[in-house]
Amino acid sequence: MRAMHMPSDHPLLLRIVDDLAVRGWSQQNIFLPQALTLELAAECRKRAAEGELAPAAVGRGPAQEIREGIRGDHIQWLEPGQADCCDTYLGLMDSLREALNRGLFLGLEDFESHFALYPPGAFYLKHLDRFRDDDRRMVSAVIYLNPDWLPEEGGQLRMYLDDAVEYDVEPVAGRLVVFLSGEVPHEVLPATRERLSLTGWFRRRGSEPF
Ligand code: OGA
Ligand code: MN
Repeated sequence: MRAMHMPSDHPLLLRIVDDLAVRGWSQQNIFLPQALTLELAAECRKRAAEGELAPAAVGRGPAQEIREGIRGDHIQWLEPGQADCCDTYLGLMDSLREALNRGLFLGLEDFESHFALYPPGAFYLKHLDRFRDDDRRMVSAVIYLNPDWLPEEGGQLRMYLDDAVEYDVEPVAGRLVVFLSGEVPHEVLPATRERLSLTGWFRRRGSEPF
């Protein structure tokens, strides 16, 4: 997949900005082109097969621990320059970062992201994407990489919206979900099949807490 640019005033990006301003979250079912989604899924599987994904930790800094009773996914952080498909994804996310800055004045300075693989039965209990001692994460963005996902296979992202409304999203290939990191509690329900995604966070500048 060659480099792909999306202007920051692309209608798809403006829709996401508008959704975030109005209700704090957005779902776009056709965000990534199918070819790119398939390449990213293959890249994630290849890294998993090569043993590059590791059990995800909970917390940050010296307090980090692996706790499968809280989250059971395996992850690998992305670095630029490792694979064309990942660089294309990072470029699209940078266009989204610009659109968010223009529309919402969030002052987002960087983006951190990782592949995540949930083996069958793995889950991530209800949480917010913000650490008690580090509030740099402003906006969360999850892209799903699973072709032909069926609702009965589980693995939904469950968001807890205002007025105790629960909203479930199936992790279908090409779909993007974006939400305000500090405001939308959410969880990942267990699935009967392997569940792949790319999860990332737009961050504002902050002083290192340690
Ligand atoms: C996370 C997370 C949601 C998902 O990694 O923090 O909540 O649907 N992921 O994978
Ligand atoms: Mn989360």
